[in-house]
Amino acid sequence: MTSESFDANHYFQELYKRPILLETKNLCQSFQHGKTQRTVLHQINLKIHKREFICVIGPSGCGKSTLSRVVAGLDPYSSGEVLVDGERVEGPCPERGMVFQGYTLFPWKTVKENVMFGPLMRGASQVAAESSAREWLSIIGLEKYENQYPHQLSGGMKQRVAIARALVNEPKMLLMDEPFGALDPYTRQKMQRHLMDLWQSIDITILFVTHDMDEAILLADRIVVLKANPGEVKEIIEVHLPRPRTPELMSTPEFKQLRAHVDELVHAQEEEHLDPALQRLPEIPRMTQVSHQK
Ligand SMILES: Nc1ncnc2c1ncn2[C@@H]1O[C@H](COP(=O)(O)OP(=O)(O)OP(=O)(O)O)[C@@H](O)[C@H]1O
Ligand SMILES: [Mg+2]
Repeated sequence: MTSESFDANHYFQELYKRPILLETKNLCQSFQHGKTQRTVLHQINLKIHKREFICVIGPSGCGKSTLSRVVAGLDPYSSGEVLVDGERVEGPCPERGMVFQGYTLFPWKTVKENVMFGPLMRGASQVAAESSAREWLSIIGLEKYENQYPHQLSGGMKQRVAIARALVNEPKMLLMDEPFGALDPYTRQKMQRHLMDLWQSIDITILFVTHDMDEAILLADRIVVLKANPGEVKEIIEVHLPRPRTPELMSTPEFKQLRAHVDELVHAQEEEHLDPALQRLPEIPRMTQVSHQK
């Protein structure tokens, strides 16, 4: 689709007609820090539609991971509601697949066994689990590695296996928390491309946490910008850029304009609302014994 033929208003009109898959209503999350209660997420109201690609961005410590953990059902929340397909999230569930930054593969299982794990847990036969695992390994292009162990794979390959392991369960939603954060820029770009292709070819809604603004603009239908202390929705931005989006798009005036807007939203708040833990970064004492001579 070229920028001339892309009608953003029509695209979003159609998107908002789709059923809502994820809804958060006045979601709040607080944590006990010593004797004080700290509100990390405050009154988060979101409506995410089926097959939407949502990126969540915001300064460090604003609650992005907290939000994804709550939606994943990994942490109970303090108040409000989190609904997926109208049902309250009470705990983790294969219908919400997770791919987080730390490689979460079982190191003692082969690639194929890692992907088979979900179907087997849900009662599939060995043969059926193996066949679904093979299908997904071929989709992500790692069928030749099915008998390797995670430590024999590169970072990008491990994340592809993690994506296959989540998608084999046919989730309604994929929750991704900085999944490409540890990858080099080239591999990261390839993974973004691969993820966009996957998203366009299957029926999946993606909630993707990142603090890379270019990544958010390249991937998202809408970007949820959070502010910190407490984490609140600062703005929800519709990305009016045609797909498929390639890195070349980054040099267009439209991309640059959007980038500047996101940058301003995120960085204007970074200084004033810095995570308290970062505000208290200790000064490194001068080490007189360190020689500057090489
Ligand atoms: N289980 C917990 N117990 C206490 N405090 C927590 C817990 N989880 C998160 N926090 C606090 O909540 C705040 C938000 O953390 P979170 O990890 O969600 O931020 P983030 O936006 O993902 O940051 P980053 O960009 O650095 O990953 C931080 O101040 C953190 O200390
Ligand atoms: Mg985080």
